[in-house]
Amino acid sequence: MRLLKQGMFLLKLTIALGSLWILFLLTRNKPGEEKMCNCSGILQGGREALEQAKLLTINKDFQKSVHIPDEHYMSATKNCSEFKLRRKYFTSPLSQEEEDFPLAYSMVVHHKVQNFERLLRAIYAPQNIYCVHVDKKAKSSVLSAIWAITACFPNIFLVSQPVDVVYAAWPRVQADLNCMADLYNSSTRWKYVINLCGQDFPLKTNLEIVRTLRSLKGGNSLHSEEMPAAQVWRMRNAHKIIDGTNQGTGKANDPPPFNMPIMYGSTYIVVSRGFIRSVLEDSRVPALMEWFKHTFIPDEMFWATIQRMPGVSGSTPPHRKYDMSDLNAIARLVKWQGLEGSQDSPDSAYPECHGSHVRKVCIYGAGDLEWMLKQHHLFANKFDIDTDPIPVYCLEKYLRKRALSELQ
Ligand SMILES: *[C@@H]1O[C@H](CO)[C@@H](O)[C@H](O)[C@H]1NC(C)=O
Ligand SMILES: *[C@@H]1O[C@H](CO)[C@@H](O)[C@H](O)[C@H]1NC(C)=O
Ligand SMILES: *[C@@H]1O[C@H](CO)[C@@H](O)[C@H](O)[C@H]1NC(C)=O
Repeated sequence: MRLLKQGMFLLKLTIALGSLWILFLLTRNKPGEEKMCNCSGILQGGREALEQAKLLTINKDFQKSVHIPDEHYMSATKNCSEFKLRRKYFTSPLSQEEEDFPLAYSMVVHHKVQNFERLLRAIYAPQNIYCVHVDKKAKSSVLSAIWAITACFPNIFLVSQPVDVVYAAWPRVQADLNCMADLYNSSTRWKYVINLCGQDFPLKTNLEIVRTLRSLKGGNSLHSEEMPAAQVWRMRNAHKIIDGTNQGTGKANDPPPFNMPIMYGSTYIVVSRGFIRSVLEDSRVPALMEWFKHTFIPDEMFWATIQRMPGVSGSTPPHRKYDMSDLNAIARLVKWQGLEGSQDSPDSAYPECHGSHVRKVCIYGAGDLEWMLKQHHLFANKFDIDTDPIPVYCLEKYLRKRALSELQ
């Protein structure tokens, strides 16, 4: 037993030293101008480091130097072992604890391959399982690049039934559902599933994620609240996909089946295997799905509603006292523009965005990192390497250092 333990320790030490060595080689051989920023200063909110990062971000040459065309991934993955080595993918579980608690990921993407690959690399562990849904209407170079990456790993696969995702409409949910069904069918080992889009990034290491999920003790963690009065129209007015957009038909929607209380929440969830079993097998769910097809942004209601259905694994009662906000759930940290503001204002939930906004959501800048890393969420949204590569670069360094220090 002691010999075994010593053996394990030596193995871990070898992995740690090996990873550090590769890290060293890579930072030496491929300078990349991202290296010019002072990540430890940025993560501490240091003014000088942040100003330096800002200057770098607005530099056109810098932006160009960071861009990677889709075709690159097809050639870079011709030799898979070389690709994994170069990109420093972990090739064995970092601890017994992580090996004993495999996770499943459903990833829905449609563009920005570099974002996807860096996210994948940040969450990759050989004991986990990954399903990737590439939008049916994605550019063929995007599909080819992502296919080439996934083909390098036995535990990453493309969804068996891709759909044409329409913004704010049912197919967005269906994309995740198809991946989750594939994940459920392909392995019985995983304990929790987390769904992601290409512009998410983790704030925690795999070990931290595993420990947090174990502490949920079979429960789920997702945004699920009473429907705000201002959003009720999304379910009251009947909607239909016409010419690729989800449009109001001018008619009233039917009342929800079984008089089910419809809840408000997020597209992004952290749920147990049992929750997915309920979604796939509960006899009430097909009727709910049909009904949600006639609503607006059903992805922000479907999961939240199922989480409050009696009999669903890890669910909580529909009573308002059990409401959980997006800030209390661990699934996803998002800065909505309307809730940003000065710390002194009682109306602001978080400090102002230091990056830019797309559809009223903050695309993080380096100045958001210090605050972000103090939050309990497992993932944050949105990051865009084309807009600002520094937040992802510094998070990568932070997480890698943390994962390796956990080995001791
Ligand atoms: C990075 O920033 C930190 C904190 O602001 C500072 O102490 C350190 O000297 C900086 N390092 C470099 C290389 O500029
Ligand atoms: C692939 O890369 C690995 C690691 O660099 C190398 O050992 C191997 O010979 C390569 N295989 C082929 C077929 O080139
Ligand atoms: C799961 O696999 C079984 C047997 O291979 C198959 O009959 C079933 O349709 C699959 N279910 C899903 C949801 O893919």
